[in-house]
Amino acid sequence: MDTAEFKEALIGLMEAKQHWAWPLFTSGQVAADRLHVHFEQEYATYVRDFAILLGRAYIQCPIPAIRAELAENIYEEETGKLSLGKAHAELFLGYPAGLGMDVERFKDIRMLHEAARYRAYVDEATLECGWETAMVVATIFLEGNEYERAVLDADAPKRPEPDLSEHPLVKHYGLDPSSLALTRAHRMVEAGHRHVAWSMVDAIDSSVYPQVLSSMEEILSRWHTYRDAVARACGLVRPVAS
Ligand SMILES: [Fe+2]
Repeated sequence: MDTAEFKEALIGLMEAKQHWAWPLFTSGQVAADRLHVHFEQEYATYVRDFAILLGRAYIQCPIPAIRAELAENIYEEETGKLSLGKAHAELFLGYPAGLGMDVERFKDIRMLHEAARYRAYVDEATLECGWETAMVVATIFLEGNEYERAVLDADAPKRPEPDLSEHPLVKHYGLDPSSLALTRAHRMVEAGHRHVAWSMVDAIDSSVYPQVLSSMEEILSRWHTYRDAVARACGLVRPVAS
């Protein structure tokens, strides 16, 4: 497998990072009093610790140029000083706080069983599988989305960026757009992070490709099971396929 084939395999896996319940979340189908489940589980599985997960790739990586890129991402995640001046995990809490939720709950979250299984693999992949897997899992799987192809191919569909007044939380749940600071911070730095993530993939030795791909398959599978559980806990039922 050459680098181009490896990247294509990674993009294919990212294109499968889609879940049946997401269109229901973004069209206001989740009862407002169940939405906290989604925020709490996302926070506990990766949002709260994202800078630390990047740090695990950083401390294992022997290549200074890659460490420098990871360090810049960690700095932004932990301080926000390249965007809005606050840690991204802190900005994330602006969503539930703006929706009137009790953010004290986020200090001691009880993870759904499937969320804990997903988080366990996030930990394994970032601690025990080498810097390459830690880096790809953190910067591509966790930080990326199903539109990764657009990073490498100008003709591929880009992730839609509607005006913040059209954000689902504003439209369907009455969130004040001022509480969307994380969305704004991400729009400021995300394009750079996506390009850097894929340029770092070029530094991975082909002997490690099977390890990275098998970890990506495992995390994708656990993510689907985790998102199924969140959807259930939010009262959603999978629509019958037409
Ligand atoms: Fe972030």
